[in-house]
Amino acid sequence: MKYGYFDDQTREYVITNPRTPVKWINYVGTLGFGGFVDHTGGLLLCKGDPALNRITKYIPQLPGSQFKGHTLYLRKRSSQGTQIFSPLFVPTLDAYDRFECRVGLGYSHFNTEFHGIKSEIRVFVPTGEAILVQEISLTNLSAEPVELDAVPLLEYTHFDALKQFMNADWVPQTMMSEVHDDGEGRKILSQFAFMNRDQRQTYFTANVKVSSFETDRRVFLGDNEYGTFQRPLSLNGPELSNSLALRGDNIAALLLPLGTLAPGETKRFVTLLTQQEGTRSESLTRARALFEKYRSHDAVTAARAAIGAEWDEYLGRVQVNTPDASMNSMLNVHNPRQCYMTKNWSRDLSLYQLGFGGRGIGFRDSSQDVMGVMSAMPEEARELIEKLLSVMKINGSAMHQFYASTMVANEGDSREAEDRPKFYGDDHLWIVFAVCSYLKETGNLSFLERVLPYYEKDKHGAPREQGTVQNHLERALEFTKTNVGRHGLPLLGFADWNDTVNLKTGAESLFVANQYGKALLDMIELCEFRGERALADRYRADYDHMRGLVNEYAWDGEWYVRYFDHDGSPIGSKKNAQGQIWTNGQSWPVISGFAPRDRAERALESVNRLLNTPNGIKLSAPGYDGFDPAKGGVTTYPPGAKENGGIFLHANPWVMIAETLVGNGDRAFEYYNQINPAAKNDVIDTYECEPYVYAQNILGNEHPLFGLARNSWLSGTASWTYQVGTKHILGVMPGYGGLEINPCIPKAWNGFSVRRQFRGARYAIEVSNPDHVSKGVRKLVVDGVAIAGNVIPAFDDNRLHTVEVTLGAVAAVGEEAAQ
Ligand code: GLC
Repeated sequence: MKYGYFDDQTREYVITNPRTPVKWINYVGTLGFGGFVDHTGGLLLCKGDPALNRITKYIPQLPGSQFKGHTLYLRKRSSQGTQIFSPLFVPTLDAYDRFECRVGLGYSHFNTEFHGIKSEIRVFVPTGEAILVQEISLTNLSAEPVELDAVPLLEYTHFDALKQFMNADWVPQTMMSEVHDDGEGRKILSQFAFMNRDQRQTYFTANVKVSSFETDRRVFLGDNEYGTFQRPLSLNGPELSNSLALRGDNIAALLLPLGTLAPGETKRFVTLLTQQEGTRSESLTRARALFEKYRSHDAVTAARAAIGAEWDEYLGRVQVNTPDASMNSMLNVHNPRQCYMTKNWSRDLSLYQLGFGGRGIGFRDSSQDVMGVMSAMPEEARELIEKLLSVMKINGSAMHQFYASTMVANEGDSREAEDRPKFYGDDHLWIVFAVCSYLKETGNLSFLERVLPYYEKDKHGAPREQGTVQNHLERALEFTKTNVGRHGLPLLGFADWNDTVNLKTGAESLFVANQYGKALLDMIELCEFRGERALADRYRADYDHMRGLVNEYAWDGEWYVRYFDHDGSPIGSKKNAQGQIWTNGQSWPVISGFAPRDRAERALESVNRLLNTPNGIKLSAPGYDGFDPAKGGVTTYPPGAKENGGIFLHANPWVMIAETLVGNGDRAFEYYNQINPAAKNDVIDTYECEPYVYAQNILGNEHPLFGLARNSWLSGTASWTYQVGTKHILGVMPGYGGLEINPCIPKAWNGFSVRRQFRGARYAIEVSNPDHVSKGVRKLVVDGVAIAGNVIPAFDDNRLHTVEVTLGAVAAVGEEAAQ
């Protein structure tokens, strides 16, 4: 069964069958005001922190058929009698003649036909505004006149998202609704929790006449709520009851009498939802001003066009044309869009990460997310990088997570285990990659001199110490250098990237050892570019030292081990019955350059043989079979799920990078393609999640439901697959001295092209592959002139430069991994 298709012209995915295996969503607005809308109109909307200021009630755990926070009802009267249905399918579940949910950039566009009525509904949040706009147009497709009422409906939640589910007396006692008239027959409904009466209120209205309204769910559904959202009893009467909920479950329903529609006639209206601060009268004044602005269809259309223009700008920085249509769809639209969402929402709010305040901004997560938006919005990325640097500790480690609104940070799950370290072995090292990525994209090396605080505060709440960005990076490396275990390898801390392996204090992490190696390589490159020879030499010595240890202790014969436990015993070794081999244990020694060529190839062969599946590469094998507190969270999953031998997608692109480093373009692309969600469109009944975004995990082949994906949208997979696609496979990589061209592609490709903006100039890059190689730049011609090497200068002259690249056999193919 297929549920939709990619429309590359409009940059949309079009869902044509609403009965998708799970809800498929789209984001509107930002963390400042926004949320997600699902493909049947369900809406989760927040302003600011989703835990602390939630507006609509969306319970993802309810079945797909159930009302979730928002819908629109239509009531049609004709010679056939009266029909009441939702053009969004849920919750009335009527038979439809046409269903389309167009998942667009910053908007969702529903285009449906039910009972002879064509409905077009566009939902979006205008840029920078705290207002949700719905543009609705209804056309009578039948041969006779019909009378139409529209009833848009919202269900509110208590602003404190968790309390809503924890206290079923206090919450309903505090929920209040009011109505205001705008003097022209239009009504504005307001809603607030009693304690916020004088601070902030939510307002809902429409730009056409309202004949009646409802704010009390119980009255709306009728019969003591034995009426249902599918068939609300109040819609059987001519008008709603105009009741004001003084407690209980608050809704906002407006009855909009649209009158008679002649055959072929269209009627349009707009609904508007905002939340404003201040006393009731202050905020009402503000809400009215905003409503006034968006009452006109022209203003709404202009706001929609402005969103489109912003996405043009964002996506226009990098566009590709390869022989693979799914890769093109992903790299040109859907993957960078997902990167934007992960950068904006971190791990806060999705169908799977429910925004109840447990996480906030993850240090390691966001340090990786920013790299996914670096080519498109480097200065926004830098702003987030500055926040991340500001929660680093004086000793160079990092606070695990923080809340962006307050900048209050904490140590994550490690707080729950008293006898365990309070740092994560990997966190602070990610920021080295993020900063270097920013420097290479922009060339703004003065950023290194910027002074930022460390996290610890004195008794007045002022930072106890501050230092330059460069100083932050140096301390990050110093922390890993000085926190080592019995083999001299970096300590795991509470966990490394794999959050769920929590070993006893003293355990060592090979992931961190290699991540440290790559961070040292980045710092060496930076120091050399800046002429800081002494520092570069010091880092080179640290690098050689760690490389020696990794190869001395961690090589297991056919692959590298992944951890040494507190007692020095290996995890990820042939000696282990379970958890014998780990993907990150193999990809990272290649990325760090620690693995000599023969070991790099052997380790990657072992991944291919023991961990690869047609649905992606598993994180480890075999999975642990039973809870073992000595290993931690990883053993809470059945074998094949999530971090316990599941296909954890975030780790897949690291193997692809490693394959490009050894020059294996066919395999890098095979790995890329096998997890590309756009290529899953035909097996979606197994895969289940949205085909237009990456999921976090797919069940592995030890699990009976092999191939089933979950936790789509907010995953580091987005950033890394985008980086792999653009920088490592297509090989257009920003460097300090210019744009480095070093593709590693399938041999069968004849070539491809990339258009990219880079530091104030545009580049049209045409790559041809006449000899059908994977790697090796034989010839580079810039603006008609052949240049030596493979780096295009950063012209910074606001012009378009043509770049012709010819791939072919050159001596140095794949040398990097063999250094
Ligand atoms: C989740 C977490 C991330 C962690 C990964 C692997 O994606 O957000 O921080 O690295 O799981 O455990």
